Amino acid sequence: MGGTPQVMATAAEVRKRVGRARASGESVGLVPTMGALHGGHLALMERARAECGYVVATVFVNPTQFPPGDDFERYPRDLDGDARKAGEVGVDLIFAPPVGEVYPPGDCTFVEVTGPLVECLCGPHRPGHFRGVTTVCARLFNMVGADRAYFGEKDYQQLLVLKQMVRDLSIPVEIVAVPTVRERDGLAMSSRNSYLSAEEREAATVLYRALSAAEREAASGERDAVALVSGVSEMIEGEPLVELQYAELRDAETLDELARLDRRAVLAVAAFVGKARLIDNVVIEPRG
Ligand code: PAF
Repeated sequence: MGGTPQVMATAAEVRKRVGRARASGESVGLVPTMGALHGGHLALMERARAECGYVVATVFVNPTQFPPGDDFERYPRDLDGDARKAGEVGVDLIFAPPVGEVYPPGDCTFVEVTGPLVECLCGPHRPGHFRGVTTVCARLFNMVGADRAYFGEKDYQQLLVLKQMVRDLSIPVEIVAVPTVRERDGLAMSSRNSYLSAEEREAATVLYRALSAAEREAASGERDAVALVSGVSEMIEGEPLVELQYAELRDAETLDELARLDRRAVLAVAAFVGKARLIDNVVIEPRG
């Protein structure tokens, strides 16, 4: 695939370049990221490359989505490495704006999805997080003007929140969900995995092992949410280096809590492993 993509810092430059692509009949794909690209991001870019004529990736560590005391300052940053990796999968343009380009001085507008989708799972544990995500994505969608935007299913709640925002505000972009990419031992790829020591990295595999065990139980007929969730919690809590924040079974579309696995559901977990807060999930379709 192509060489290193062009890197632009202003929305005006991006709009001009995207306008040219559009004028020559190309559809535009957008992959919003916070950089520190890994295989999960590259899968989003590859999917965008396969489906769109012109592919833009954004690299922007968005300050508004980090609650106070979170890892904004130490979040990994490597724009040169990111540009090289994105080029290898055929990204045409990287938009890496400074903070003032996305949040101009004196700005006072947020975009916030309210209600059940943000009041569960990560919502209460990361106050303001989804408001920051929807605000930055609304701004990036406006700045780039893409036809499709690609997001990973690892951030399952984020995906539903963004779909809701796009629907509610009639933003003309299709949100495309891409399956979670895992390491060989099942650990979901995440920029935050780089915080893990070798021992913590090994311990972190318990998240997907626990979710997979629950998937197997569901496949053999277990329908009771408490049984499924407590199996996951016990397995994760049995790992001394991992501190479970939540394990929950929820409706895969509405995120309503489920007492029984009687419809398509998401089994989601969040846990601290050393300094890294990791999330993971599986979507379960009950059969029979
Ligand atoms: O998933 C992420 O990396 C971020 O939340 C996103 C969507 C790029 C917004 O900053």
